[in-house]
Amino acid sequence: MAEHFITRFEHAEPTLRLPDLHQALYDADTLFLPKTVVCLHGQEHMKKKRIFAGVFNRPFFRHYQNHVFPVALKESMDPVRENGGGDMAQFAYRVLVNLVADSAGIDRAHNEADTDRLFALIGKLGHAPTMGQLTDPSDRDKLMVELKEALEAFEKEFFEPSLARRRALVDKFNAGEIEKSDLPRDAITAQLQHSPTDDDLPYDERVKDAAFFILAGAFTTANVLMNVVNEVLDWLEDHPEDRLNLINDPVLMQKFIWEGVRLHPASPITKRRALCPVHLPDGHDAETDEFVTVDLTRANRNPDLFGEDAESFNPHRALADNLPLHGVSFGGGAHVCLGKLLAVGVKITEDNKDAEETEFGTIAMVLRALLQEGIARDPARPVEIDESTTRRHFRTLPFVFDPALAQQG
Ligand code: HEM
Repeated sequence: MAEHFITRFEHAEPTLRLPDLHQALYDADTLFLPKTVVCLHGQEHMKKKRIFAGVFNRPFFRHYQNHVFPVALKESMDPVRENGGGDMAQFAYRVLVNLVADSAGIDRAHNEADTDRLFALIGKLGHAPTMGQLTDPSDRDKLMVELKEALEAFEKEFFEPSLARRRALVDKFNAGEIEKSDLPRDAITAQLQHSPTDDDLPYDERVKDAAFFILAGAFTTANVLMNVVNEVLDWLEDHPEDRLNLINDPVLMQKFIWEGVRLHPASPITKRRALCPVHLPDGHDAETDEFVTVDLTRANRNPDLFGEDAESFNPHRALADNLPLHGVSFGGGAHVCLGKLLAVGVKITEDNKDAEETEFGTIAMVLRALLQEGIARDPARPVEIDESTTRRHFRTLPFVFDPALAQQG
């Protein structure tokens, strides 16, 4: 079957907007993702996405940034601060699983053991989106068994009690016993309000939607956070003065983060299948059932748009006015990312950088906290990168807090 590759930035988004291209990136997983928002198409997709989009508005992000996230960040920072350092490969997931679980509507005892249990289960589910990118396809059967076990455990240990608590609250709200403001603001509650019975939305689909939400939000953001920390630690070796500049200047901080996302989009590609013959924006034609792969990494590195040094980390690169520094890393069209604001914020400028209502994004908040504590590489333990998929996962990214580098800004 022919496969078309879109590698030019200017063709990427128009391709993703084509209505007759169906999501195909996750075809290798037949158990977990098929009914989740990222795999649905047309009306079915719009219906589910609209419910989530209704929760994920700007007041919601602001509330998370100012009230929910500081608690999740402290919970995850306290142990590494006490230990004088840690491993980003655990820390990044802990902090983000913790945060995104709140936005999904999954209750937890707020302790490290519970977060780690949820992290371990979602970690197993995290193999589903990358199944199509396995360099050794014989790993697939083993992963499918693990996927099934992880889904069952997630359902029993986390989803069922969280759903029951929310169902009781929605019933009370419908009976006029509590106010709307007493309802949790999260994805499970939003789905219960729009689709109250299991005839409206099958129970099995609710479980998978909740698990997917944590995966989509936490694992992508954790991957980007690790890549950004890795780039920033290299950068600070040559530009030590930028540690304080980054802590103090949200405009500069965002340039570093968006440049990191450009170079290392959490998903290096996305893939579609043509539902009928389609004329593609790059001038080629895709026949029915042919695949169209949008190479986000290559599109983000077109030298004529991003400069001759497009392959390297340069947060100060000058771009044409309408070109976002993060490139096309959040996708486009119907499946465009729902959580971009939460992860990397609105565009920060001199005008909005001091405003209380500005969303800076979670990556900026974590990186700032790490820089304030004096994050530095652990000279005794080198970085290791997992090469088993084409996604760039860190097996380990050890760090220490150096008191000589700590500054509050
Ligand atoms: C830096 C962090 C992130 C990156 C790079 C990223 C990237 C992406 C990309 C490329 C897609 C489109 C996939 C496709 O077209 O096949 C996507 C979709 C999605 N993202 Fe994100 N994402 C990030 C953070 C988040 C967060 C924090 C959340 C939620 C809390 C989230 C929720 C979603 C959801 C629900 C979808 C599916 C949307 C749909 O299919 O309509 N993402 N993301």
